[in-house]
Amino acid sequence: MKLLITGGAGFIGSHVVRLFVTKYPEYQIYNLDALTYAGNLANLTDIENAPNYTFVKGDITDAKFLEDMFAEMGFDGVIHLAAESHVDRSITDPMSFVMTNVVGTVNLLNAAKNSWKGNFEGKRFYHVSTDEVYGSLHNPEDFFTEETPYDPQSPYSASKAASDHFVRAYGNTYKLPVVLTNCSNNYGPNHFPEKLIPLMIHNIRNNKPLPVYGKGENVRDWLFVVDHARAIDTVFHKGTLGETYNIGGFNEWKNIDLVNLLCQIMDRKLGREEGTSAKLITYVTDRAGHDLRYAIDAHKIMNELGWQPSLQFEEGLEKTVDWFLANQEWLDNVTSGAYQSYYQGMYANR
Ligand code: NAD
Ligand code: TYD
Repeated sequence: MKLLITGGAGFIGSHVVRLFVTKYPEYQIYNLDALTYAGNLANLTDIENAPNYTFVKGDITDAKFLEDMFAEMGFDGVIHLAAESHVDRSITDPMSFVMTNVVGTVNLLNAAKNSWKGNFEGKRFYHVSTDEVYGSLHNPEDFFTEETPYDPQSPYSASKAASDHFVRAYGNTYKLPVVLTNCSNNYGPNHFPEKLIPLMIHNIRNNKPLPVYGKGENVRDWLFVVDHARAIDTVFHKGTLGETYNIGGFNEWKNIDLVNLLCQIMDRKLGREEGTSAKLITYVTDRAGHDLRYAIDAHKIMNELGWQPSLQFEEGLEKTVDWFLANQEWLDNVTSGAYQSYYQGMYANR
């Protein structure tokens, strides 16, 4: 199996690459990543010399590059994670989301289609997507199921919805062997500190204000990143072609409750008096068009494919805080931008 994983230097992608490289020594794993601000090869130092692993720097918006690469390599499978992933950035710069998430995905579909030439035996194109395509829940009893109509509300989720539609359209029109998953919010080691949990950990540690958007009433459904990677492994190998699977751990948290829990954990870990870190909480102007609540119904993947999350949230959060405290250099390099200049000699960053 020659397997192409895109976006493997990012947060989730690096956990997927690690899992596949270590669990499947018989596969040849190619990690294609443009190393944007979110890509960091320091996420993969433990496996970078594995004999079944190759890193390729490249941009999925470059159709010719992808066509040439597919023609040369003859991939059997694709797990596509490369994306612009941060909602706040999509509000200030929607076009980069259109380019990478929509145009990049269609480029990748075309490259796979042209390389496989209708011979789909043993081939698989897996698109990793988000629950945000379903929009915002307002009724507390509602959950996102695989049948929930798409209703994206942010430029990020609109771009992911468009890419999902293209993947399904290629499955329907050209019979490309596609499978999709839509996952809830991830957290864990290597999470880029523009997202809520790592940003709060970083700011608590440095005694900086903790910016909570609006009233902190918005609800997100959190899953440990390694459990998402395990789910991707399950769906890649056992999922039915043409199907979509929602991934989540039935773990909803109001932002303000989550930030308070993080403050408590950090007070304990840093030897601060209880209540010290919570004083840093600062309510700031709400995100434009802020989705109220996401919550995944994950029964399909649990019942049909036997996947289950392995960690309780409190345990996962402790692990995550411990990782960030033990890897302060990683966090400092990312927040200072040093991780980009470190690799500049090898690869030019966008
Ligand atoms: P990330 O921002 O941490 O990583 C994205 C990676 O893609 C980076 O390594 C970046 O360099 C690479 N990339 C960006 N543009 C590229 C391009 N044009 N060509 C090649 N590589 C490019 O993102 P993440 O949080 O790891 O998310 C990965 C995927 O999972 C995304 O598709 C995202 O939509 C999806 N997802 C994320 C979450 C979450 O909570 N983070 C939840 C569900 C689904
Ligand atoms: P985020 O981690 O950006 O993920 P997403 O927007 O994709 O769900 O944000 C998670 C929640 O936390 C979301 O409701 C926005 C909120 N938030 C804050 O309150 N403050 C912050 O500084 C950030 C980054 C997010």
